[in-house]
Amino acid sequence: MTTEYTARDKVAVLTLNNPPVNGLGFDTRVALAAGLDRALADPAIDAIVINGAGKSFCGGADIKEFGTPAALAEPNLLSLILAFEQSTKPVVIAVHGVCMGGGLELALGCHYRIAARGTQVALPEVKIGLVPGAGGTQRLPRAIGLEPAMNMIVSGNPVPSEMLAAIPGQRLFDQIVDGDPLDAAIALAQAKVGAPLPRLRDLRVKHDNAEGFIAFARLTVGAMAKDYPAPQRCVDCVEAAARKRFDEGIKIEREAFAALMMTPESRALRHAFFGERAAAKIPDVPESTPTREVGKVGVIGAGTMGGGIAMNFLNAGLPVVILETAQEALDRGIATVTRNYESSVKKGKLSPEKLATRMGLLTPTLDYAALADCDLIIEAVFEEIGVKEKVFKQLDAVAKPGAILASNTSTLNVDTIASFTQRPQDVIGLHFFSPANVMPLLEVVRARLTSKEVLATAMKVAKRIRKTAVVSGVCDGFIGNRMIEQYSRQAGFLLEEGALPAQIDAAMERFGMAMGPFRMSDLAGNDIGWAIRKRRAIEQPELSYPKVFDRLCETGRFGQKTGAGWYDYKAGDRKAYPSTLVDELVIAESQALGIERRQISDEEIVERLVYALVNEGAKILSDGIASKASDIDMVYLTGYGFPVYRGGPMRYADEIGLWNVLRAMRRYAAADSNGRQAGAWEPAPLLVDLVASGKSLT
Ligand SMILES: NC(=O)c1ccc[n+]([C@@H]2O[C@H](COP(=O)([O-])OP(=O)(O)OC[C@H]3O[C@@H](n4cnc5c(N)ncnc54)[C@H](O)[C@@H]3O)[C@@H](O)[C@H]2O)c1
Repeated sequence: MTTEYTARDKVAVLTLNNPPVNGLGFDTRVALAAGLDRALADPAIDAIVINGAGKSFCGGADIKEFGTPAALAEPNLLSLILAFEQSTKPVVIAVHGVCMGGGLELALGCHYRIAARGTQVALPEVKIGLVPGAGGTQRLPRAIGLEPAMNMIVSGNPVPSEMLAAIPGQRLFDQIVDGDPLDAAIALAQAKVGAPLPRLRDLRVKHDNAEGFIAFARLTVGAMAKDYPAPQRCVDCVEAAARKRFDEGIKIEREAFAALMMTPESRALRHAFFGERAAAKIPDVPESTPTREVGKVGVIGAGTMGGGIAMNFLNAGLPVVILETAQEALDRGIATVTRNYESSVKKGKLSPEKLATRMGLLTPTLDYAALADCDLIIEAVFEEIGVKEKVFKQLDAVAKPGAILASNTSTLNVDTIASFTQRPQDVIGLHFFSPANVMPLLEVVRARLTSKEVLATAMKVAKRIRKTAVVSGVCDGFIGNRMIEQYSRQAGFLLEEGALPAQIDAAMERFGMAMGPFRMSDLAGNDIGWAIRKRRAIEQPELSYPKVFDRLCETGRFGQKTGAGWYDYKAGDRKAYPSTLVDELVIAESQALGIERRQISDEEIVERLVYALVNEGAKILSDGIASKASDIDMVYLTGYGFPVYRGGPMRYADEIGLWNVLRAMRRYAAADSNGRQAGAWEPAPLLVDLVASGKSLT
């Protein structure tokens, strides 16, 4: 039963019991309505209390229902709330833990509200590209005033109940109590029997300068959320609450909700919301899979990645032992970690006490024996298989039985690395992104023999350090870099055909990428790809890569770190200045290849780069490297700066329509008359199949 009905001292108590978040899906709404009818019909009942079982009152509507008939099936949320608001017996709602979205809207429709101290209260719909759709935008401003309501609705962020209760003149909470609010709610319900029933809809929104404030809100939102339609619609709805009658306001909210539901931005945001949760689920690793305790972590290598990786665990309160080969490298690594924390202290983001606690958890060492009691050891040494072999053999010798041995390698084969040990079942790839203490993505690389227990533990650890973990199989580049290679390759071909780096970057940044391919490459270091290409030239000579990349590296322009790359850089300034020298180099390369340069449109740039991601993504899916399309999208949203409002490359391809994507790919294949792009536009069989069967990727 999703809702329990009990009676206590002439009060009916309706308890939401629909774990994990007491969501207000169809069954729960039916049960709540039945409970209301029963209470109203029973002469032995004088009043009604609604509360929630478990850790939290209610996380909101069931968003899986959105866009399906179940969401509209009566009683829908709007009708249900109206029914409680119109109850002739007093309705008191008692909230605790989390009271969000539809849960808060239901509360706003009741006559009285009691909250446990510390309840997180929010209308987070804007985060999935919507406005609250069950009266929230109309009742909340009446309860707490125009400005606080606008802030909550436009940001979607939670506010603690006691802070809301402290707003002068507020009508949201009648009481804040410590602990379980049920007894207080029953007492209040009994006390209100026979009294006139207050309804938020009957109040007016008070503000001295509503017009000025709304104009200000509109401007601010316009500047901050230009790619997202929902925040502006939130302003429209709150404005209606201030200016119009309640019923008219509800109509405006309803229209905004329905219109936003159909936008690609909302579809993309909902896809990302579910994608984040889905990434944690691995098809053949059930949630009941046992996990190992991870209480102490080892990190090998205190370079760029090692230091950042260590910080993740220190931030989560876990002790870390960090190992280097020489005292000097160790000191340098520790100094970088300290400097990073000190800069957070200077910015007021970290207290000096916390800095001390975190550094206190870090033990530098040159001795492998210090790793003997670590539960998880992550290697981040030079990217050379010989070095990795030495390290993993040493780890195999010192690590305790059951310790998880992880590699942060970007390009090496994790199966090979596992084979250096006698315990390949305990070896896994943990591919962090730079800067490792900042970037949310973690690719969890499942090697052939990695045990399910180790995989499940890695996913749990990722959650603890607040990373978005996506499982990838073993292949060159894993999910993210294998795809980005095709994207960069197209960027190179476009240079040779007629574009310049700044044009390509600008087109991709207008599309919404955090950074275009050339600025990104300058940041990561152009020499990294160069080294990989040199290795490939020996191992896979058939791979064609535009030579313009090598031409640049031959001039020593490795990117920001050398003060010059695809762009020029000035000391102390990260701004990229277009370089005539690079332009000349690019044009000379076209000449050398005998290519007549042509004008290339931004549309072609975006299509070729993004469809190259889509095609490789589809191959990654068929190869079983990623288990679902949304995993690929999560990699791109959290690790590669793909615009969230486009939902990731796979979701974007669905939005454009796979038939259109395939047609464009065939057009580009036909245009590549001399076959320079060898294989780039060979459509992934999965795409062809999906188009033939009218299906989509996500
Ligand atoms: N830099 C990135 O953007 C990035 C991103 C993801 C993954 N990675 C991977 O992370 C690993 C490290 O990369 P990095 O950029 O931090 O390199 P780095 O050169 O900055 O650091 C490597 C560190 O390892 C130390 N080291 C070398 N051999 C060692 C050994 N035998 N024992 C202990 N320490 C040793 C070195 O002294 C150095 O401090 C590589 O496998 C790389 O592919 C790098």
